[in-house]
Amino acid sequence: MAQRTLVTAALPYSNNRLHVGHVAGAYLPADTYVRYLRACGREAAFICGSDDNGVAIEISALQEQSTPAQIAGHYHDCQARDFAGLRIEFDVYGGTHHPDYVELHERFSQDFFRRIHAGGYFTKRRTRQLYDPQAGRFLPDRFVRGVCHHCGFERASGDQCDQCTQMIDPLLLKNPVSAITGRPAEVRETTHWYLRLGAFEEPLRAWLESKQGQWRPTVLNFALGQIKQGLPERSMTRDITWGVPVPLDDPDAAGKVLYVWFDAPIGYLSFTAAWCAQQGRGTDAYRAWWSDPATAIVHFIGEDNTVFHALTWPAMLMAEQQYQLPTQVVANNFMNLRLGGEIRKISKSSTPADAPVWVEEYLKRGLDPDALRYYLTTQAPEAARTTFDPEEFIARNNGELVAALGNFVNRSLTFAARYFDGRKPDAAAATEADRALLARGTAALAAAGRCLDEFRFRAGLEEVMGFARACNEYFSARAPWASRKDNPADCAAAIATCVEACRLLAIGMGPYLPGAARRLANMLGADERLLRWQVPEPLPVGHRLGPPAILFAKLEPGALG
Ligand code: 2FM
Ligand code: ZN
Repeated sequence: MAQRTLVTAALPYSNNRLHVGHVAGAYLPADTYVRYLRACGREAAFICGSDDNGVAIEISALQEQSTPAQIAGHYHDCQARDFAGLRIEFDVYGGTHHPDYVELHERFSQDFFRRIHAGGYFTKRRTRQLYDPQAGRFLPDRFVRGVCHHCGFERASGDQCDQCTQMIDPLLLKNPVSAITGRPAEVRETTHWYLRLGAFEEPLRAWLESKQGQWRPTVLNFALGQIKQGLPERSMTRDITWGVPVPLDDPDAAGKVLYVWFDAPIGYLSFTAAWCAQQGRGTDAYRAWWSDPATAIVHFIGEDNTVFHALTWPAMLMAEQQYQLPTQVVANNFMNLRLGGEIRKISKSSTPADAPVWVEEYLKRGLDPDALRYYLTTQAPEAARTTFDPEEFIARNNGELVAALGNFVNRSLTFAARYFDGRKPDAAAATEADRALLARGTAALAAAGRCLDEFRFRAGLEEVMGFARACNEYFSARAPWASRKDNPADCAAAIATCVEACRLLAIGMGPYLPGAARRLANMLGADERLLRWQVPEPLPVGHRLGPPAILFAKLEPGALG
């Protein structure tokens, strides 16, 4: 087992608000995983930040009549707030063009480029590129739209097709038009530096094969399939002004910047270095995380990022030669939205601004972040696309969090407060049923831990919730209210069992529902130390519990808007 784990979540473009698809795709499972590692006493770093460079931000600036710096700054802050609101807690939330991070990020990105250049893995090539004569500028891939040359999708972007997710060669797009003016694009000549991905086909194939059985098959099959088709060289420079300047002493490089997909993953490194510096350890301490084989590196991403994290980024790392390859790439699918009986894609342009999928809207309503974390994990798109359904959200909140988990905790702890003076009673008269319940809880925790180790978050939560349902059934069947007067020792054993079951539940909830887990720990008269991922020694008889409170709020129909 690795001594420490560096966890990254895909850097979100800072030109949009976060929606539930982003959260379910990368940030929530990553946060859950980091919490789990730490609960197990394992050292972890959790790195993220905004992807501020590139044409996506330029397009937004054009559309919103603003500047890329303003757009990036504004959305960086919005997204950071949304993450914090959902208790997604990074150790560092950088930004590739953020004033506090840009200098270090440019240095890392330029050094990285120079080393690959010195290694001879770039080809400088005069090339043809689409040009918008009306705007008087070359059109980077994302500024072009047209018909996909793989699948025929009509509104494919010039870098990657939204429908088939394959990389696009913009010169092969049919009927290309400029995204700036909407006019037909024409072809002109320019110079760029291309990463010869073909040189890495064999090492990438061998490396990916070594991950069989450990990585999700969707990721491996996709990446290996791409290698089989042959990896084309990819231009790593662009004719735009917003980004990291190309660090070459060559007149042809003047005025060009690095491709955003070149510098973005380097953000994982530069933000790690910034975080080390923030902690007073010096930027060089990042090497312990990136160059030491005792560190596991785990990337959480959405499905559209697979090609970059499973192929391009590892090829860049191989070419650069100083750092480790990813240990794991956890890719999730997209999430659709059910609205008015229809299932649709979630997107900035087509999803209403006040739809319940925007994290900002959700938080503005004062709803419990853990309720959203819960629903999104139950719907985690781990193997296929799933749907966010506001009615199902409410039904699951009320039927599972409130009626099973919350109800058991509440029944147990109010009983202890009322009839046992808020203390853990004596379990001396414990029955077979009592022991069986706790054995079930211990087994559920072990099973959930195995799921979390294997990045099966949804299944892990099902283990915890299965135990919560068993606890509720136990309480009803054990009927401590009936034995309270005529068999107090039996009643005491039942409630002592319930208190111990609550502890197991709190531990299992910890990575998934951190706010509720902390509240439950407090109700059990303890602090976060109670949430360590281990089967606890029973609390001493007479242990003082905290005041019981409602763990989850019931939601009325329409609560999400
Ligand atoms: O798809 C996206 O939102 C990209 N901004 C993800 C970048 S991940 C990384 F490599 F930084
Ligand atoms: Zn396509």
